Parts: sequence; C-alpha cells; structure tokens
Amino acid sequence: MQPEYSSLFDLALEACEHSYAPYSKFRVGAALLCEDGSVITGVNVENRSYGLTICAERNAIAAAITAGKKKFKALVIATPDADYPVSPCGACRQVISEFMPPSAPVVFGNSQNSYMTSSVGELLPHDALHELSGELGD
Ligand code: THU
Repeated sequence: MQPEYSSLFDLALEACEHSYAPYSKFRVGAALLCEDGSVITGVNVENRSYGLTICAERNAIAAAITAGKKKFKALVIATPDADYPVSPCGACRQVISEFMPPSAPVVFGNSQNSYMTSSVGELLPHDALHELSGELGD
C-alpha cells in the first residue's frame, strides 16, 4: 500500500477490534483523514433488525462531524474478513460524496497487500445534485 495510506489502513484495521458484527461476522473499520491532519475512525454497527445496520464509513463520517470536522482528504477502509478488497456500499457512496470531492482518494482492502485505490468520483459517477451539497461548495 502507498506509504501515505499505510498508517491510515493500520488505524482502520485496529478499529475493527470494536466492530459490532455478531450477525455477519464481517468486521469493517474506516479511517478518515481530516483536513487538519487528524484521523477519525468508525466501525460497522449491526442490529438484530438487520436494516438498521450502519456501515463503518458512515459511522466515521458521523463521528467526524460530531467532532466538528467537515473537510476530509482521504478515506481508508479495512475489511479483514474478506478475501478480496470490498468497496463501500451504494448508500455510503452517496454519504461520502456529501463531504468529499470527486477527486478525493478512497482506499479499501482486506490487508496491506490486497487493496484498491479509487476516488469518490469513480465510486459515484454522474453524481446527481452534487452542487446541492452544503459542504463541498465552501
Ligand atoms: N459494511 C460496511 O461497514 N462497509 C462496507 O463498505 C461494506 C459493508 C458492513 C455492513 C455489515 O455490517 C457488514 O459489513 C456486512 O455487510
């Protein structure tokens, strides 16, 4: 993995320790690099009413917003229980696009040796209503 994402990946992987995934047994950790250089992590939190599950990426973004951070430089996602890199789900792609520009890197992998580097724009092409985002314009 590129050195600039390597420590973010380690933080995302460490966060998996706190993942709450008793139903899928599929742990996910996300590390969000904020514009000020700080890193905020998130994990997936499942629920016995399955549809209420919240993905790691969305929890990281919510935690960052809660901490007063709204601009992000990169998102790195660790999925150690997969045997291939798992990209963000469709709902997360939409939420990510609210706070990160199309050029922002999104890196996802099951290990430091098995990962993909993409971008918000690649993951959500033809982004509808992009200009309505309250955060990207300022
Ligand atoms: N999950 C995430 O947290 N992020 C992803 O990018 C893919 C899916 C979670 C949701 C659920 O807890 C588990 O992984 C299996 O889908």
